[in-house]
Amino acid sequence: MSTAATPAAPAASAGSEAGSPVFSVDGLWKVFGPKADRVPGDPELAALDPAGLRARTGCTAAVRDVSFDVRKGEVFVVMGLSGSGKSTLVRCLTRLIEPTAGTIVIDGEDVRAMDRARLRELRRHRAAMVFQHFGLLPHRTVLDNVAYGLEIQGMGKAQRRAKAAEVVAKVGLEGMEERRPAQLSGGQQQRVGLARALAVDPEVLLFDEPFSALDPLIRRDMQEEVIRLHREEGRTMIFITHDLQEALKLGDRIALMRDGRVVQLGTPEEIVGSPADDYVRDFVRDVPREQVMTVRTAMRPGDCGGPEHPGALAPDTVVSAAIEIVARTGRAVCVVEDGRCLGRVGDTDLLRVVAGIDGRLTKEAA
Ligand SMILES: Nc1ncnc2c1ncn2[C@@H]1O[C@H](COP(=O)(O)OP(=O)(O)O)[C@@H](O)[C@H]1O
Ligand SMILES: [Mg+2]
Repeated sequence: MSTAATPAAPAASAGSEAGSPVFSVDGLWKVFGPKADRVPGDPELAALDPAGLRARTGCTAAVRDVSFDVRKGEVFVVMGLSGSGKSTLVRCLTRLIEPTAGTIVIDGEDVRAMDRARLRELRRHRAAMVFQHFGLLPHRTVLDNVAYGLEIQGMGKAQRRAKAAEVVAKVGLEGMEERRPAQLSGGQQQRVGLARALAVDPEVLLFDEPFSALDPLIRRDMQEEVIRLHREEGRTMIFITHDLQEALKLGDRIALMRDGRVVQLGTPEEIVGSPADDYVRDFVRDVPREQVMTVRTAMRPGDCGGPEHPGALAPDTVVSAAIEIVARTGRAVCVVEDGRCLGRVGDTDLLRVVAGIDGRLTKEAA
């Protein structure tokens, strides 16, 4: 997307209100290596850094004491450098990897207590995964690849082909139903993978860096596709990426991981505007703040008291868009939500945010 207003747009549309959690994760650990079980419960071992733990025990703590909720309808991004524990964390959610310690709850149900049948049902119907290597069946057509998950579920042929055709159209592959995967571009293949996950109509879609191998332009198309799908369906999504731009673009909230820990969990605006520590600050240093920060942060709070608010801005307007309006208007404008004036924003307020010297945020962060 090329317009400046886009990075914060998903947050505005995606109902990031305090919805009920789909997933609740508490104190989750995944330790690989000999006698991994002893690490989470041993304060001395648990306190070691990754190199220290490896030297002492031969273990790797891929996920360390992680807790978070994923709210219904949000795009929850797990971001971090390669090796930070993203894949392990997300695979633990459906026990594709067995957690070492902690609790995982989906819609009130304890995932760690599920038996094999229940787990299968969880992975097939409730939390479907879209992988980077989408594992399409080479000898099957697009339509049959998409219908595959429904076939596993035992749906009849006519019904599953009808459902698959509907989803194929939804991801923009209409007319390609009878092609084989080899006759598709990388981006189209990824759409098939996405369609296959969507076809089973899961409550949550899990994406593990699905677009990392795609060319930048196709990647952008796929990001747009995810945003569009989310806007249309409001489906809960958990999206792994190592790419900050992608995280900021897609995420309602972002969990930033480092060495198995979540070092900050917040909206793109919170992460860029109030980094939790020097690591996060360094991570977001080059982000164009005006494309992420909104007038809700930039404004001076307080009702103007006036009956009308010419040129009023919605609180989720990004600063770059607000700059244009304020520049055109030539004076401060009101920030209005549901007909209520929340505050005013003028050129100085916007400049402070761009310059990273916003008083309110730095006070909150301290
Ligand atoms: N099966 C495994 N056995 C041992 N170590 C593993 C295994 N899987 C992952 N790890 C280690 O756990 C850490 C986190 O890996 P991973 O979750 O794949 O990170 P990411 O997805 O962020 O790149 C890395 O240090 C990785 O080497
Ligand atoms: Mg990974």
